[in-house]
Amino acid sequence: MTLDVRPLDPSTAPEQLLADYHAMRAAVAAADSPEDPPLTYESAIGRLRTPPVGDGPCRFWVGHLDGRLAGSVRVALPEEANSGIVNVEVHVHPELRRRGVGTELLRSAMPAILDARRDTVLGLGMKPDSAGARWVDGLGFEVTHSTVMQVLLIARTPAQLWDVPAPAGYRLECWTGATPERLIDSYAAARQAIQDAPLGGTSYRATVWTPAQVRATDRELADAGAEQRVAIAVDEATDRVVGVHVIHNYPHRRESGFIYDTSVLAAHRGHGLGRAMKAAMMRWLADERPDLERILTTTATTNTHMIGINHALGYHSARTMNWVETPTARLAENWPTLGD
Ligand SMILES: CC(C)(COP(=O)(O)OP(=O)(O)OC[C@H]1O[C@@H](n2cnc3c(N)ncnc32)[C@H](O)[C@@H]1OP(=O)(O)O)[C@@H](O)C(=O)NCCC(=O)NCCS
Repeated sequence: MTLDVRPLDPSTAPEQLLADYHAMRAAVAAADSPEDPPLTYESAIGRLRTPPVGDGPCRFWVGHLDGRLAGSVRVALPEEANSGIVNVEVHVHPELRRRGVGTELLRSAMPAILDARRDTVLGLGMKPDSAGARWVDGLGFEVTHSTVMQVLLIARTPAQLWDVPAPAGYRLECWTGATPERLIDSYAAARQAIQDAPLGGTSYRATVWTPAQVRATDRELADAGAEQRVAIAVDEATDRVVGVHVIHNYPHRRESGFIYDTSVLAAHRGHGLGRAMKAAMMRWLADERPDLERILTTTATTNTHMIGINHALGYHSARTMNWVETPTARLAENWPTLGD
């Protein structure tokens, strides 16, 4: 097997290469996630050109086998709280698996992984028992965290499920885009409550939210052309933000909203604020974004409260996804020739 591996620069790649990349990724999605709608060209190429906020700088390579685009590898270097992590994603066309393509792609990316001098390599989130799970197991990765992906299909959900009033003593507010200056201090503190979300044994760390980080993320989203929608709960006694719910919507996936964070300060939990904020968001989106088809969210399988709130609002559980990682040193040791 001779795989021709070359860097892919999404901003200069010729149209045919991008079309071939999309065809490979669409085939992977259809094989491994048949429960999802087909992967569009806009979505596949948009994610190459505009990686999700927080992923950090990304590099890509594609491998050709006898002239056919067989697979790809992405190496992403997140910053701040995750500056000890390299995120690696490998995809191989389902018709070309078990020929060493995935392994050769990973081997080709090893110099970039090692050059980053980070302690831990995280793989793609993957279904238990999938081809990916078996492949990374053989490479010495371990499962560190289990999540459930839940999906809300907006047109199929009775809007009465979102008829949830604000609990007594609180009011709800919503905005699109940058965080209002008058709220930024208590908003950052309420976002910081995301640190309490269970993350299993993963080395991944939630963002540390300060007013400066809120502004930096606002800027990053604006630069990416992404829409940020926020619903908050305000404690009327203190006029401070005590709960936040944030959805991102990327221009290349206009039909899908991604829940980025939902958090409530510990002292204000148990009053129904999470459900009320999420319901308010849905009423608002149904009104202002009729083109939005679905909302996606990922939650720890142990986070029964959040999973229950989502079910009450009409979400269904689409799949379980495991997070996997390995010490960089083990990846290099397990296979000394990988970094050649
Ligand atoms: C995981 C993936 C990249 C593997 O690509 P591949 O080209 O088939 O992998 P390789 O041929 O290099 O596999 C090397 C070894 O891994 C193991 N392996 C790979 N796929 C396997 C499977 N479906 N079942 C059991 N073992 C498997 C085997 O030991 C295999 O060696 P063998 O074929 O001699 O037994 C591919 O299945 C894929 O694209 N999956 C979807 C995306 C994903 O989950 N990526 C991994 C996360 S980063």
